[in-house]
Amino acid sequence: MFVTDSSLNQTNKPEKKRFVILISGLGSNMQQIAQLANDFSSRVSIQAVVSNKASAAGLDWAAERGIETAVVDHRLFSDREKFDQALARVVVKFEPDYVLLAGFMRILTPGFVNQFKGRLINIHPSLLPAFPGLHTHARAIEAGVQRHGCSVHFVTDELDHGPVIAQAALEVSTTETPEQLAQRVLVLEHQLYPEVVQWLSRDQVTLDDNGKVTLHGVSYRHIGTSE
Ligand code: GAR
Repeated sequence: MFVTDSSLNQTNKPEKKRFVILISGLGSNMQQIAQLANDFSSRVSIQAVVSNKASAAGLDWAAERGIETAVVDHRLFSDREKFDQALARVVVKFEPDYVLLAGFMRILTPGFVNQFKGRLINIHPSLLPAFPGLHTHARAIEAGVQRHGCSVHFVTDELDHGPVIAQAALEVSTTETPEQLAQRVLVLEHQLYPEVVQWLSRDQVTLDDNGKVTLHGVSYRHIGTSE
């Protein structure tokens, strides 16, 4: 008797999910995610890395590894809508199942967000809903919070908001600088984002019409310091 696994294609390799990653800089999170694709059993396929900055270091890193790259320079467009429309045209060419924002430092228009609704994911360096926006680590220290961390979430119209998929947290030391805290949180980001991408690639994350996230076959949503 032959048992068939519908998740396997004719070559007995797992069906892969297609990801496009948007970056603006170093792309260290993108690099961690891209490494997932190297695993034979992985269901993660990176279709392209796209940046709004030609100087983004992550573009070179990706190109050196044979990942397709593209640049849509926001300075060449008269307004956000036109830039986002051009960006969307590039992204859809790669037919992504998911679009991952990984240090993509542009505010996206509702038009772009709606086009990729339920498929647009971001990582933000705070325990959302606390500290959306910039300078999260300095603001966390300034506010005297005991725990800080990062969140991976579905993107909505509101900046750094949207249904949280998972978070990673650590204890804030009373003596550390924002730069030291940022470095420690970045280590957590490099664990959390690839983990969530694995879940997405295996259809383990669903988002309902009320914005509720459900994880299937995953028993935890937090990494690091417990409640
Ligand atoms: C990361 O810390 C990410 O969480 C943050 O930018 C950094 C990018 O680093 N994103 C945001 O602040 C989004 N609001 P990377 O380019 O090395 O991945």
